[in-house]
Amino acid sequence: QRGPLIDRYGRVHRDLRISVTDRCSLRCTYCMPEDGVPWLPRLTMLTTPEVIRLGGIAVSLGIEEIRLTGGEPLLRRDLVDVVAGLAALDPAPEISMTTNGIGLDKTASALREAGMTRVNVSLDTLRRETFIQLAKRDRLHDTLSGVRAAAEAGLTPVKLNTVLMRGINDIDAPDLLAFALEHGYELRFIEQMPLDAQHRWDRSQMITGEEILAHLRPRFDLEPMPDESRGSAPAELFLVNGGPATVGVIASVTMPFCGTCDRVRLTADGQVRNCLFAAGETDLRTPLRDGASDDELAQIFRDSIGAKLPGHGINEPHFLQPPRPMSAIGG
Ligand code: GTP
Ligand code: 5AD
Ligand code: SF4
Repeated sequence: QRGPLIDRYGRVHRDLRISVTDRCSLRCTYCMPEDGVPWLPRLTMLTTPEVIRLGGIAVSLGIEEIRLTGGEPLLRRDLVDVVAGLAALDPAPEISMTTNGIGLDKTASALREAGMTRVNVSLDTLRRETFIQLAKRDRLHDTLSGVRAAAEAGLTPVKLNTVLMRGINDIDAPDLLAFALEHGYELRFIEQMPLDAQHRWDRSQMITGEEILAHLRPRFDLEPMPDESRGSAPAELFLVNGGPATVGVIASVTMPFCGTCDRVRLTADGQVRNCLFAAGETDLRTPLRDGASDDELAQIFRDSIGAKLPGHGINEPHFLQPPRPMSAIGG
């Protein structure tokens, strides 16, 4: 066991988000253009044994939870092997995934058996026409099947992620919450962040956390949960109609939570990102393929955390979007 990953601000990193592919089956406007983006070259993508080896080094550095992201992680053909390999690490991390749900109806049970414990599914609307407008693909039905299958397979709690966009799906917020309450899913509304490949993010178009609550309050009684229960989570939780159900608001822009951040990211091509918004990355793939030892690779992880900035800087005057788009970071 190596020492924990602590940065200059005392933040201990326990959560690793691994992007297993940059490809996706949808084209949500806040993430990817309709024609896609230039994909990462195949040969630069980490193989499954490489991902598992780096996962092992991460757990030796105190990582307790590994979240698989994309693009769309379900597009990785050997995803079940990735999960099984990570689940067999010692100490064993908790394994979760953030997905658009398409194809989950076929793989949920296998993923659960391989050691995944829970999933978060992106769901921005329950209306087919709006789904198509927003994601450019007619796949609402597949996403909903995936959500159902995840719950049936015990990948619970199933959390739903909704990014609200002005004039597109903002009016869907109360119906989405009613749907989540009916089925026992944990819904979280997310402020849109400047991570779209097209660089079209505009603060005035963003639905803020405050506005999200204003959309919900006419239909639901919302009571903030005590601050202590939040820990390092991005979502601020509200008890709905007296509880026990909750709804979350992830207000990354208007109420940044960087002070409690415990997350580090590994891209599908083997680069460590110490922040969602990091301008630079630390290359693990090259030393890994050049025969570096576990200790040397652990030191590279550590160096990356050592360079982490206190916050994302979105609200500062000279903020620049990171060169890598959301689809190749994984949220
Ligand atoms: P849970 O452990 O289930 O709470 O997962 P999560 O909410 O941390 O992860 P998920 O992948 O579901 O992300 C939900 C939203 O939170 C997405 O929009 C992410 O981009 C955003 N998010 C996750 N981690 C961070 C982070 O470290 N910083 C910021 N700014 N946003 C984050
Ligand atoms: N801002 C906020 N959240 C985003 N997501 C994708 N793009 C953005 C963005 N620009 C969300 C997706 C998914 C998670 C990984 O991040 O809805 O649930
Ligand atoms: Fe952590 Fe960066 Fe997210 Fe802030 S924006 S919570 S520092 S990853």
